[in-house]
Amino acid sequence: MLVGMKQTLRNARRMMSMQDINEIGRTAFFVNEMRILAAQRTNHKLLDDAYARLFSTDETRAMAGPIADRFPFFLLSVGAQKLYMDERLRASVRAGATQMVILGSGLDARALHFPQLQTYEIDQGNILEFKRRVLANLPSKLLPVPYPPGYLGVDILGLLEETHGFDRTQPTVFLWAGNTYYIPNEATFACLKYLASNTSAAMVLVDTMSARLARPDGRIDTGDTLLDACWQSVADVLGGGRNIFVGPWDVTTTADDLGFMVQDSSDSLSVIEDVFDTSNVITDLLKCDSEMAHLANAFTREFRLNTVCNSGWRALEEGRPAG
Ligand SMILES: C[S@@+](CC[C@H](N)C(=O)[O-])C[C@H]1O[C@@H](n2cnc3c(N)ncnc32)[C@H](O)[C@@H]1O
Repeated sequence: MLVGMKQTLRNARRMMSMQDINEIGRTAFFVNEMRILAAQRTNHKLLDDAYARLFSTDETRAMAGPIADRFPFFLLSVGAQKLYMDERLRASVRAGATQMVILGSGLDARALHFPQLQTYEIDQGNILEFKRRVLANLPSKLLPVPYPPGYLGVDILGLLEETHGFDRTQPTVFLWAGNTYYIPNEATFACLKYLASNTSAAMVLVDTMSARLARPDGRIDTGDTLLDACWQSVADVLGGGRNIFVGPWDVTTTADDLGFMVQDSSDSLSVIEDVFDTSNVITDLLKCDSEMAHLANAFTREFRLNTVCNSGWRALEEGRPAG
């Protein structure tokens, strides 16, 4: 399937480089490289993503490689996110989902991995344009929908219905990965409330950082000196000294108010531990010293993977009529 892509990819690279993409948009390329490295370093087939390799360029490898070497725990969290969301998506298809909306989709290739779902991707225009060009020759149900400057505070479902055939009465999975920690809580809450009340049956898969790591005031004070020093280095590298992680969301305390039930909330280390049969998953996968193992443990415990659904989705799973 991937034969013949090289020329297309070379053309896409020529037409656009990361220079054309803003700071948050660049995180899509960073995460994509982490996905590739997580698969390579663990050699685990569930983490492999052939499409991710198509989006990789010399420039993105040069940007992400040193960060992965310095902060290898990102590989674990990105790996856990893939394992968790893929598994939950498979379950949602079994439950009857027919549509998927990916908010801030970046270079996520799940539209191609889940062709049974009609998928709508929302991100900034230039990221989706890069992706569309790279994937131009592949069969895909991907319908990229750019909404510059963003999806927050926008009637995205109304727009999807008007222009792309989205049907809010159909069971829908929303993927919201790698986004909430850059977004202030109020905006996250408003978006979730909007999704819950504007779809008949909705499930949302969303990753979050705890309030220790992502503080609304941008301060770095986790109570763990080693983690603080490390997190400051992350801020220096990714945010130019500013902590860009300001959006913690504790699903277990707020989901009810937003019209959602919590189906699951797991820390990313547990997800990895469930899949890899090894006595110490951190040292075995990262091959790191005890200091890095401490940081990896602290970070992955604070990085959570969550599944929430509205009452219509719960009814669907239980075979009852919605409402
Ligand atoms: C860290 S990347 C994650 C990409 C993808 N979800 C993944 O997990 O690989 C964040 C992406 O969200 C997009 N994004 C963030 N806020 C957005 C907004 N308000 N509107 C549209 N796109 C947004 C960025 O452009 C970027 O591509």
